Amino acid sequence: MKYEHILEAVSFLKGSGIDQPDIGLILGTGLDKLAEIMHKEVEISYTDIPYFVETTVEAHKGSLLFGTHHGKKIVMMRGRFHLYEGYSFDQITFPVRVLKVLGIKQLLVSNASGALNPSYSLSDLVLLDDHINFLPGNPLTGRNIHELGPRFPDLSQPYDPVMNKQLKQLAETLDIALFEGVYAAWTGPSLETRAEYRFLRNAGADVVGMSTVPEVIVANHMKLPVAVVSVVTDLCDPDNLQPLTIEQVLHHANKGSRKLSRLFDKYIQTAPEL
Ligand code: HPA
Repeated sequence: MKYEHILEAVSFLKGSGIDQPDIGLILGTGLDKLAEIMHKEVEISYTDIPYFVETTVEAHKGSLLFGTHHGKKIVMMRGRFHLYEGYSFDQITFPVRVLKVLGIKQLLVSNASGALNPSYSLSDLVLLDDHINFLPGNPLTGRNIHELGPRFPDLSQPYDPVMNKQLKQLAETLDIALFEGVYAAWTGPSLETRAEYRFLRNAGADVVGMSTVPEVIVANHMKLPVAVVSVVTDLCDPDNLQPLTIEQVLHHANKGSRKLSRLFDKYIQTAPEL
């Protein structure tokens, strides 16, 4: 990863009219609803942005959207990149670095996950409070980019406490149940076995998914405050495990997406001037 490549992508996006965004969003599998209600100014396909790779996941749109919402300038990633697509950690996290250098002050992230915690139900929302990285590596290995952050970034509070507090208060006001939990990142694309679900539960994870942790690590590296809300799309009960289809995941993501959009919408509305 070269800092110059980030600057090149940033200057391309500025030239395309993406100017000083306040908040960045990453919309995960089946969680595109918010993009539909935003006032769009510019939408650019990932394939047109220097050093961005292609989305290979069908449920992901694969574009960067810039616009205004409640008077705030928002830049949204409609779909993200995953390790299981064959991309490197550098490629997966490149967009987050670009958004930070473009000027975002906060990053809001969503994803679809499987529930390990037996008190969660389908399409529940879970605010991440911590994570366990089971991916084969870390996006910060290799030469450190000092322009972005330190060699050994602290991860004692990887999910921003101020953003999380605000999201919890808003969820209460909106009467949306919002759990808090630990996310385990698993490589995929095959789903976990019963024994692996048992292992993940014992490890202390509440939800499991195939994304997010690389983005959260690079955000912390750059001291970019980040909050993540996960939508439960399936129940990972090792003693009664049902086969899972992508259709089911999308169905429950879509149900959860309505609550998620209301929550993120309110968050953007009430965010102080950044
Ligand atoms: N594992 C299990 N269930 C899931 C996942 C996962 O990675 N993502 C969404 N539902």
